[in-house]
Parts: sequence; structure tokens; C-alpha cells
Amino acid sequence: MQFSKIGIVGCGQMGSGIAEVAAKAGLTVIAREINDELLSKGKGRIEKSLAKAVEKGKLSAEEKSTVMGRIKFTTGIGDLCGCDLVIEAATEDIKTKLGIFIELDKVCKPEAVLASNTSSLSITELAAGTSRPGKFLGMHFFNPVPVMKLVEVVRTVATDEQVIQAAKGFAEQVGKVPVLAKDGGGFIVNRLLVPYLFDAITVYQNGLASREDIDNGMKFGCGHPMGPLELNDFIGLDTMFYIGEILFEEFKEPRFAPPPLLKRMVQAGFLGKKTGRGFYDYRK
Ligand code: 3HC
Repeated sequence: MQFSKIGIVGCGQMGSGIAEVAAKAGLTVIAREINDELLSKGKGRIEKSLAKAVEKGKLSAEEKSTVMGRIKFTTGIGDLCGCDLVIEAATEDIKTKLGIFIELDKVCKPEAVLASNTSSLSITELAAGTSRPGKFLGMHFFNPVPVMKLVEVVRTVATDEQVIQAAKGFAEQVGKVPVLAKDGGGFIVNRLLVPYLFDAITVYQNGLASREDIDNGMKFGCGHPMGPLELNDFIGLDTMFYIGEILFEEFKEPRFAPPPLLKRMVQAGFLGKKTGRGFYDYRK
């Protein structure tokens, strides 16, 4: 089993990154968004990322247009009918994702594999909404997709072994390192990362140290590329809040519960880098 035509549903930060790395690897990509405005934003994000690569001499201008030419942008879900693999990267909301997979199940060819880029929802629950749980799995990429090397390949009890092997092969083809995880809340990375990021918010809230010193502690003491408060901002405080709620619901362990300060910041509309304010001020 090999994938040559890839569908991407959702052309936000994650979806556009996945579309970019797949097209760079020589694959044909159909990227779908719900309206023209979001679609052109997604296209712009890929253009900008490739233009940066050209500026740095990593890609020629000609290669950039070849890569862009491999991606077809559409608002019609029916255009994904010929894809071998469709990766969903829509909003982290179970109803939205289930709705997408019910539609994909209808329009995609029976042998097509469906994957979700969800970071915390149950892959099994999403798969159960389709008629093809054997051809359904999680493929969790990391932000920024063109830079981060990891893909978590997530199997349910129903996923066919050859689908897992093909997904691992696809991840390697697009330059990533696949790791295999079972469908347990947060998979590997978020299961470990989320309590750490929440702890940083709690110690900041309790006045242990300044935000800069908390971040510098982990950057210079442990060699992390970003400190935990900066990383919360980078991922998005709303996203962190949703992931925490989902993991807390699953495990009922306090370490997964979103800290009160995080909740207040989300309520205030301080969602991190994307809105200009989070633990840091990005407006300048
Ligand atoms: N697209 C493409 N390339 C990018 C990029 C982007 N969005 N952002 C950065 N880069 C490239 C730069 O061009 C640069 O390339 P070069 O080394 O060839 O010149 C390289 O990455 C380093 O970037 P910068 O010099 O601009 O900045 P930094 O050295 O500070 O690196 C960073 C930026 C890569 C984001 C780094 O800070 C980092 O690794 N941070 C941690 C990110 C992380 O932990 N991500 C995972 C989040 S968890 C997640 O996604 C799961 C979800 O479910 C919550």
C-alpha cells in the first residue's frame, strides 16, 4: 500500500504545513477549506513558507512553483474522491471532525485511508463514525510542521497493520520520524508535555519566578528551544485549554486540568502569539 495522491482537510497552520511537506516530497495534494477566504489564507501561508526557503537558498524559485503546482486548492469535499490518503486537520472539536469524516467516508474511494491530525481526541471515536475503521488512524504532526521532525502514528484496536506500515512510510517520505502509539489520550507527546506546560503556568501564577526566568530556566538549564510559557503562547492558549479539558475528562487526574490562570486568559481573548497577547506581548 502506497499513497501518491494526498487530501488535506483544513488549511490552517497544521493543514497548510502538511500540504507543504507532502508537495515538497513530490506528492500530488488536494487541499480543502470550507470557504474561499480560509483557502486563500492557507495558500498564502504555504507561499510565504516556500518563499522563505527560496530566500535562504534552500529551494530555487523554479522548485517553489513546481511545489505550488502540485497542490490543488478547493472548497469542494467531492474533489478528494481520488485521494489515497486524506488527512483531516480541522478545528479540535469532535462534532466538526466527525461531520468531516462522515462526508469523507461517502466521497472517498473504498480503499482510501482516512487519518486525523487530532492532538487529543479519540481516534477510535472518529473511526467509528465511518464504514472503514480498519483504514482509519491518527497522524499527529507538530508545529511548525515544516520544521518539527515528528509524526505520531496512532493505531486503534481496529486499524489494519498494513495501514500502519503505509502511514509510517508516508511520514518518512515527507521527511519525518514516525513513532507508533496506541489510541490513548494525548498519545505520547501531549501526555507528557501538557502537564509540564500546565505546571509552568501554575508556578508562574503562584509567583515562583518571572515568566522570563521560568522560560530561561528550561531553555538554558535543559536545552529546550523554547521555554514553557513561550511554548504555551506558540501552541495557542485556547488550544492548550481544549487539550487539557479533553485529557482531564479522559484521565480525571489533576495534572491534566487547565490551570485557572489559563482559563482566565482564554476568557480575556489572550490566546498567545496568534492574537498578539498571551504570557508575552507580541504586538510590538
Ligand atoms: N515554517 C518553516 N520554517 C520555519 C518556521 C515555519 N513556521 N519557523 C521556523 N522555521 C525555520 C527557520 O526558517 C529556521 O531555519 P534555518 O535554521 O534553516 O535557518 C529554523 O526553523 C529555526 O528558526 P528561527 O531561527 O526563526 O527561530 P528558532 O531557532 O527560535 O526556532 C522554532 C523556531 C523552530 C519554532 C523553535 O523555537 C522550536 O523548535 N520551538 C519549539 C516548538 C515545539 O515544541 N513545537 C511542538 C509544539 S507541540 C505540538 O505542536 C503538538 C500540538 O498537539 C499541541
